[in-house]
Amino acid sequence: MNNYKALSESKAVKCGKSFSVYSSVDSTNNLIKKMSAVLPDGHLIIADEQLSGRGRQGKRFYSPNGEGLYMSLLFKNPRDCSDELFTAKISLAVCRAVDRITCTDNNNGVGIKWVNDIYFGGKKLCGILCERFSAADGEKYVVAGIGLNIKLNGRALPSDISQIATSLYDITRNDYDKYVIAAFICEELEKVMNEEFTPEEAIAEYKRRSVVIGREITVHVQDENIRAAALDICEDGALLVRTEDGYTKKLRGGEISVRVKQR
Ligand code: BTN
Repeated sequence: MNNYKALSESKAVKCGKSFSVYSSVDSTNNLIKKMSAVLPDGHLIIADEQLSGRGRQGKRFYSPNGEGLYMSLLFKNPRDCSDELFTAKISLAVCRAVDRITCTDNNNGVGIKWVNDIYFGGKKLCGILCERFSAADGEKYVVAGIGLNIKLNGRALPSDISQIATSLYDITRNDYDKYVIAAFICEELEKVMNEEFTPEEAIAEYKRRSVVIGREITVHVQDENIRAAALDICEDGALLVRTEDGYTKKLRGGEISVRVKQR
């Protein structure tokens, strides 16, 4: 049964107030980009499945029917901030929504692996893909794509994913309605995108939720793996690291990926 009511009744004023739901698409990010000129700011697209779900760095995002929430939101007037800070705010909204749904406390519950992965218990719960793009009307917009695992079917899961992925069901043994989760994310997004929520507050919460700071990491950039210690998150959302040869560097999202060494 579809529970669109949760979306219509959400407390969000703009985010997700207009929405469309599809049974199958190639990618909700692709679809929103294609239609953006005629869609209102804050429009939300949800699909039951994605045939070519995309992750960062050209990776595919496994998006089978019945296992996750696959949603994209259109931002026509994104506040002027770095890509890292924008993605950080999306991550915060997802964490807050998951906390509300699962009653996980925000210190021991869901955390963020810089820059855009949501983790629980060392495994990935959700991936976020934010993209700036030029629309058919010549304007520049941003799409925030969110893929959150609700209940994974272990047997069907590709083995490379099953080792590293978790779901809301794995965490709580409860089934959740994807429209309720989407409504919570939209409500939390409006709070973190509000100008009263300062960049300083956003970074402070982001740091509290970071599963990277203080850890040994491997940074993958342009076919090179660099070992480093993750020192801090900067005020613009960049990650400050000290590489093993002693240099301090500021990393930005782009083509970088980070692997956290397990303790
Ligand atoms: C990542 O893990 O690197 C990011 C994954 C982002 C997946 C979401 S699902 C909805 C939206 N549509 C896509 O094709 N990708 C994003």
